[in-house]
Amino acid sequence: MTEAELYSEYKGVYVPKILHPPECLKYYEEFDFRQDDIFVVTYPKSGTTWMQEIVPLIQSEGDMAAVLTLPNWDRMPWMEEHRANVLNLEQRPSPRMFTTHFHYSMMPPSYFKVKPKVIYVMRNPKDVFTSSFHYYGMASYLVDPGTADEFMDKFLSGKVMFGSWFDHVKGWLNAEDQDRVMYISYEEMILDLKASVTKMSRFLGKSLSEEVIAKIADHCTFKNMKQNKMSNYSMVPVEFMDQKKSEFLRKGIAGDWKNLFTEAQTEKFNAIYKEKMKDVKFTFFWDL
Ligand code: A3P
Repeated sequence: MTEAELYSEYKGVYVPKILHPPECLKYYEEFDFRQDDIFVVTYPKSGTTWMQEIVPLIQSEGDMAAVLTLPNWDRMPWMEEHRANVLNLEQRPSPRMFTTHFHYSMMPPSYFKVKPKVIYVMRNPKDVFTSSFHYYGMASYLVDPGTADEFMDKFLSGKVMFGSWFDHVKGWLNAEDQDRVMYISYEEMILDLKASVTKMSRFLGKSLSEEVIAKIADHCTFKNMKQNKMSNYSMVPVEFMDQKKSEFLRKGIAGDWKNLFTEAQTEKFNAIYKEKMKDVKFTFFWDL
């Protein structure tokens, strides 16, 4: 199926029609946030599901109940997705935990008014591309990626769900009220998950013992999360996500792009990356 059939355009980016009906986007647009709400913001395939495991465990101080009984999409719902409007989020006690793939410029008015805390997770765009390439091939609500060359053209020009990776990252890096935003990369989490959990808990105002940090980091390893049916998408019907084609928790490593990219693709990607990111001062972990 084509982009026109599967996606609608919302605030300038493609969103999959089936997941984001107009009434849900309206619900998000009109939602009243609280100052102590917590948002995890990602471009798709940057580590969202991982964060939907880590952040609730930080909040519960290592109590596993929520991550073992609630699916990730109810535990820490995407505000732009269907279901957010039936979860009674208005009644949830503070601090509420939300997820979004929205660009900074797409955030609704209440967000800018109350300024909840945000953890923005970034991942090497070559790995985001690679993860997306496999995911688009297994998820029926997304346009088939075609060849890696074809998908690269779409990815680099932002003709994919949630638009351009470059715009997403640049927008959030330029967010106002920087004390309310914490930036972390997928690669830092891969390198040292305990240190990353410590950094996030400090940002969220939680002082956790070494023991609790270690427990959270252990539960959130790729291997262990793959076993958690509340987080591995095994409850999603095969017609929607065919995990026989590619698992949702697929490889969970940094640098898998090297197994996919040809030399020509690497050159092309690098050239566009360099051009699009030339004014960005931030030092990315993957560029070090
Ligand atoms: P790969 O396809 O490269 O394996 P999102 O949740 O934003 O859609 O991102 C999915 C990516 O995060 C997948 O990448 C998935 O395997 C990876 N991921 C999920 N949980 C992880 C974990 N505990 N450790 C490492 N990677 C994880």
